[in-house]
Amino acid sequence: MSPACRLGCHLLLLCLCALRGRSQELELREAEDYDPFLLFGASPKRDADGEELYRRTLRCVDALSLQGQFTFTADRPQLHCAVFLIAEPGELLTVRVDRASLDCPGGDLLKVFDGWILKGEKFPSSQDHPLPTPARYMDFCTGGLSGQSVTSSQNVAMILFRVHDPGNGFTVTVRTDPNLFPCNVVSPTPSGRFTLVVPRQRRNCSFSVVYPVVIRISDLALGRVGGLHVQLPSAGCGGTGDFVELLGGTGLDPSKMTPLADLCYPFRGPAQMKIGCDSAVVRMVSSGKHVNRVTVEYRQLEPQEVEAPSGNSLGQPCVSGP
Ligand SMILES: *[C@@H]1O[C@H](CO)[C@@H](O)[C@H](O)[C@H]1NC(C)=O
Repeated sequence: MSPACRLGCHLLLLCLCALRGRSQELELREAEDYDPFLLFGASPKRDADGEELYRRTLRCVDALSLQGQFTFTADRPQLHCAVFLIAEPGELLTVRVDRASLDCPGGDLLKVFDGWILKGEKFPSSQDHPLPTPARYMDFCTGGLSGQSVTSSQNVAMILFRVHDPGNGFTVTVRTDPNLFPCNVVSPTPSGRFTLVVPRQRRNCSFSVVYPVVIRISDLALGRVGGLHVQLPSAGCGGTGDFVELLGGTGLDPSKMTPLADLCYPFRGPAQMKIGCDSAVVRMVSSGKHVNRVTVEYRQLEPQEVEAPSGNSLGQPCVSGP
C-alpha cells in the first residue's frame, strides 16, 4: 500500500471507531485502540529553535511531534480522546496544563500517560519502565487543574481526555528537554541510526521502530571491549547478566514480542537482520556492572521486501504473545 492509501484507510478506521456505540467503561479502553503511527504522517515538521511558540487546536484523536501550545474545545461530547506525543530520541516531554474548564466530578478527565498505550499494550513495557503502571498516569483532575506539569521518562507520552459538555476543554503547553542517557526510545523516523548507552545501571532499555525494518547492529560493547572473553552463542544469553535481544511483533509492548536473536558477547562489525514485522525492538538488559553500548542502524523495508523475504531474514510469524 502507498503511504497515502494507508493514511486514507487509517482515517476511515478512525471514523468507523467514532461511529461505533460504546458504554461508559469502554470509553478509555477504546481510545487506546487508535493507531498513532500514521497520524504522524500528517503532522508538520518540528519547530526550529528560537521561533515563536507554535499554536494550534487539538483534535480528539491527534498526534504531536513538535513543541507548542495546544487547545482542545469540545463541540459535542468527546468521550474517548487520545493524543500521541513523540520527541527526538534524546529528549523528554513536559506537558503543562495552562487552562482547563472541565467537569471532573461529572466524569470529565485529563490524564498524561508516561509512554504510549495502545490496545492494552504499553511502551515502555512494565519490565523496562522505572515506575509501576498506576504511577505512570498523571491525573490532572485530582491534582487541581491549571499550572500543573508532568515530565515523561522517555521521548513518548500520551494525553488522554474526556469532555462531556460542548464548550469545555483545555490548553496545554508541550515542551522538550534534553535527556542525557535516553533509555527507552520510540524512533520518530522509519530509518536512522541510534546509539544506546547504559552507564553502569541495573536497568533494561528498549529501542523501538514501529515499521518493518532491516536492522544492523554495527557496534556492541557489553563492558569488556577488547577482551578475549567470548562466550559461545550456543550457551545462550540467559545467565550472562548483560545482553542485547532483537524482538519483533505486531504491538507496542516489547515484553509481548517474539525474541528473534540474542547477542551476548562483545563484538565489532555488523550483524544484520530483516524484521518484517509491524514493529522491531532492540532491547538491552544491563546488570549495572558495566558500561554497555549498542549502535543500531535501521532502514524501513519496501512493501515488496516485506512480502518476499530473502537472505538473512526471518519468515517468522510476527505474533505478540499474551
Ligand atoms: C531486566 O530484564 C531481565 C530479563 O529480561 C529481568 O530478569 C530483570 O529483572 C530486569 N531488570 C530490571 C532492573 O528490571
